[in-house]
Amino acid sequence: MPYDFDEIIDRKNTGSMKWDGVKDIFGEEDLLPMWVADMDFKAPEPVIDALIARAKQGIFGYNRKTDAYDEAVIKWFKRRHNLDLRREWLCFSPGVVTGLNLIVRAFTEEGDKIIIQPPVYYPFYHVIGDNKRIIIENNLLLKDERYYMDFDDLEDKVKDKKAKMLFLCSPHNPVGRVWKKEELIRLGEICLKNDVIVVADEIHCDLVYSGYKHIPFASLSPELARKSITTVSPSKTFNLAGLQTSVVIIPDSEYRACYKKMLNIHRASHINTFGMVALEAAYNYGEEYLDQLLSYLEGNLNFLISYIEENMPQIKVIKPEGTYLVWLDFRSVCADYEELNQIMIKKAKLALDPGYWFGEAGKRFMRINIACPRTILEEGLRRIREAFK
Ligand SMILES: Cc1ncc(COP(=O)(O)O)c(C=O)c1O
Repeated sequence: MPYDFDEIIDRKNTGSMKWDGVKDIFGEEDLLPMWVADMDFKAPEPVIDALIARAKQGIFGYNRKTDAYDEAVIKWFKRRHNLDLRREWLCFSPGVVTGLNLIVRAFTEEGDKIIIQPPVYYPFYHVIGDNKRIIIENNLLLKDERYYMDFDDLEDKVKDKKAKMLFLCSPHNPVGRVWKKEELIRLGEICLKNDVIVVADEIHCDLVYSGYKHIPFASLSPELARKSITTVSPSKTFNLAGLQTSVVIIPDSEYRACYKKMLNIHRASHINTFGMVALEAAYNYGEEYLDQLLSYLEGNLNFLISYIEENMPQIKVIKPEGTYLVWLDFRSVCADYEELNQIMIKKAKLALDPGYWFGEAGKRFMRINIACPRTILEEGLRRIREAFK
């Protein structure tokens, strides 16, 4: 069936973080929200149908994941990513960030160090810091509006005996890189040599633009897979974040036991009734939706690029290879990151994720979420143009 991604759906007063949480986060009421990573589109029809059918059964007791659920995950990753998963590798986590939190607690101790690659998804900072682990920043390098990993710096930092883990964001939020196989292998080998576990957050793996291909970290080699943990979820792909269901892929049996113990300690192992139903339906029947979604998002991305080129060429677009998040470079427009933030809120009346949330390296950048009807995107861009006139 054809999906209508142009449809405007009123999300106000539904408890939506993106729409109703603006005042709390940005201090103003009437901002157009283009922040936080969820989409202003409905989920796929088969998912909605499956949820309605489940709701009608009417009993919402405790759940455990079913074989059909695992099967849906395995088939999806085989079909879409040519990744061979074994059923026993699949562990549960309510959300990916909860999973990262449990992983940190299961595999490291207070005072241990965890490497991240900023500018990067800001909860990585919180998960590490809140657990009293120490952050090592292996900043990405920006060359000609494209980001690269700094392997020399990584080689150097990974030698720290306290460095126990690296959080890889793949595809990368916010810079939109879909890492190449060579890059991932190089990173993996550096970590393997230095006994550092790679935690690959691949939540955006399905959202990749034409010409690019997501390479699952667990597909690189059996050795690299064994020393890695991957987190995935249908939540970004099919707009299901509120259902709190994600998958933690752990090939090594000892690691798995360790993770599951932590999951139980936190009493987090009961799967959400609706999350389970939605994941299964999305992975089994969501392909048609995803293909149409990707084409719509690509249209939005091209629209944004042309609009900025024509109307405000001083803002540089870091063209994403994946994700529906676009990283905008305002460094030649604004000399101060706080001022940039204030202009966005007070003049443009727009809620974007300010770049400094993603680390020092993000100052004077902004992240815009383009997973919305094109008319909303156009309105957001018009507001930026007017504010910086
Ligand atoms: C890289 C990355 N990981 C995790 C999440 C959130 O995952 P969850 O809502 O399952 O905790 C996001 C959401 O934007 C993300 O971009």
